[in-house]
Amino acid sequence: MKATIVTLPGDGIGTEVVAEGVKTLRAVAQAFGHQFAFREALIGGSAMDATGDPLPEETLAACRAADAVLLGAVGGPQWDDPTAKVRPEQGLLGLRQELGLYANLRPVKLHEQLLHASTLKPGVIAGVDLIVVRELTGGIYFGPRQEAEEVQTAGEMSAYDTMVYTAPEVRRIAHVAFRLALKRRNKVASVDKANVLAASRLWRRVVTAVAAEYPDVTLTHVLVDAAAMHLIRRPTDFDVILTANMFGDILTDEASMLAGSMGMLPSASLAGERTDRAHPFGVYEPIHGSAPDIVGQGVANPLATILSTAMLMRHSLGLAEEARAVETAVEAALAAGYRTQDIYEEGTTLVNTGEMGDWIAGRLVRE
Ligand code: IPM
Ligand code: MG
Repeated sequence: MKATIVTLPGDGIGTEVVAEGVKTLRAVAQAFGHQFAFREALIGGSAMDATGDPLPEETLAACRAADAVLLGAVGGPQWDDPTAKVRPEQGLLGLRQELGLYANLRPVKLHEQLLHASTLKPGVIAGVDLIVVRELTGGIYFGPRQEAEEVQTAGEMSAYDTMVYTAPEVRRIAHVAFRLALKRRNKVASVDKANVLAASRLWRRVVTAVAAEYPDVTLTHVLVDAAAMHLIRRPTDFDVILTANMFGDILTDEASMLAGSMGMLPSASLAGERTDRAHPFGVYEPIHGSAPDIVGQGVANPLATILSTAMLMRHSLGLAEEARAVETAVEAALAAGYRTQDIYEEGTTLVNTGEMGDWIAGRLVRE
């Protein structure tokens, strides 16, 4: 098949890990006889430096014309001024909103070989296999907001953000979660703060109503504070976790530790089905950020990005076998003892970002 993939390396280690993602996709193309064309575009702080805009119009146009997008990370200390009007993160948030990427899938699966890489006890995390379905274009990230500079109350600054959800926004993401649960272990845990927030009470009502359409799926409601605790107390009980934008952001960083390292977790941000496309359009990215503390050292773990290319092929290109081949190659790399610094343990072989990518690409081509 022929596919056009836009790459948005962004900032920090984004460039380093996306290079390994491209390496993986090229190896798949070679091994399976596909033609993937790559177009690189700017986003985030590097886009601001080059054009003044964290999400240039050109980037959006390139993404709209592509079959899928592979993104690295945005942000970094050089753009961290809290009073700045333009920030790198606006590029990512704008991309999600402009492309309608409301469904963020973040699978958290512990690779057997990394049982001891986590700071958590092996007995607690053995067998973890859950997926967080995070609503990505609504909630407090996108509600009415007032910056501190805009108003003063009694001579003091004030600022606010607002969590807004409409029933249709909750309904469509709930369907994503329930459909996924049908293909997994038939369990959805919906996470909210319904004991305090009106938006969460609406969330709970709508999710409960959607659940009635999926009699085979068991729905539980969990308050977000309790969910944070249960995630590290009994993580294997979870199958599909359905939650709002900000709760999902926080819980997935926590959940990443169940998989040993942030450097292991891929994600897909999907738009709704469109009649002019055979497969849903999506942006695929590692959940880790730009990691300014390790940038330029070649030590970043590329596996989250490499696993994101598997999700890209599965969801947006319909290439299930190729996706599986990438996941198998990652398993094989871990089984062969290769580790980047973040997952290194005594007795394993320390490799850098490029070496890990080379090994996986080589394995794909050899298969
Ligand atoms: C994530 C990130 C982003 C978010 C930031 C970079 C805006 O933390 O994708 O989890 O908060 O959604
Ligand atoms: Mg986050």
